[in-house]
Amino acid sequence: MDVYGAVRTRQSIRRFAGRAVAPEVLRRVLEAAADAPSGSNLQPWHVYAVTGEPLRELKKRVASRLAAGDSGDDREFAIYPPALREPYLRRMAALGEKRYGARDDAVARKRLREENWDCFGAGTALFCYLDRDMPAPRWSDVGIYLQTVMLLLRAEGLHSCTQEAWAEYHRSVAEVIGPPDERLLFCGMSIGYADPAVTHPRIPRAPLAETVTFLG
Ligand SMILES: Cc1cc2nc3c(=O)[nH]c(=O)nc-3n(C[C@H](O)[C@H](O)[C@H](O)COP(=O)(O)O)c2cc1C
Repeated sequence: MDVYGAVRTRQSIRRFAGRAVAPEVLRRVLEAAADAPSGSNLQPWHVYAVTGEPLRELKKRVASRLAAGDSGDDREFAIYPPALREPYLRRMAALGEKRYGARDDAVARKRLREENWDCFGAGTALFCYLDRDMPAPRWSDVGIYLQTVMLLLRAEGLHSCTQEAWAEYHRSVAEVIGPPDERLLFCGMSIGYADPAVTHPRIPRAPLAETVTFLG
């Protein structure tokens, strides 16, 4: 698969098949992803690859919090500006329409959303931390790194879903992972083989002219 193919076939997959990810495949991907670029080569990501019993334990802990109506931990950073405006609202709505479709009732949406904390059935997940004092440009390094991981996963026939949702229960993640206090959880990423029985509509993108300006 060439790079165009990897970019084109990467989608956020929200239902994974039971087939386990071989540890050597995950290691190969993470070793290759270490070549992702970062400002001054800081490589500011701290990644925990979690599978087996610790992942089951984490899912169980969050499931019992959800069942108790616990809406999550204090948020450590904002994921959107306080007042989201156009064109972002329109783009977010396009995702909602594709993702939830006809299921526009709040209970069904909540149930679908809660699948985040089961990793959509995946048996492998990454949890990505940064040092708390890293400013915005270093967060972009982490984004570049995560996309590198996602594209390499495609080369292995694997799929993924990056999940900010995990930061909402960062204390449970920390209980299982045990990161040093100076690290902040940015997101999780579920990894596995896509369940062939479930189709994922492509999420539309803004026309190029909305996001790119050519000069000269
Ligand atoms: C940093 C980041 C965080 C995300 N967090 C979540 C999440 O918590 N749950 C989820 O279902 N999808 C999450 N997504 C997936 C986005 O919704 C998705 O990338 C976007 O709608 C485009 O769809 P696509 O990835 O299928 O092309 C996240 C994506 C990124 C890059």
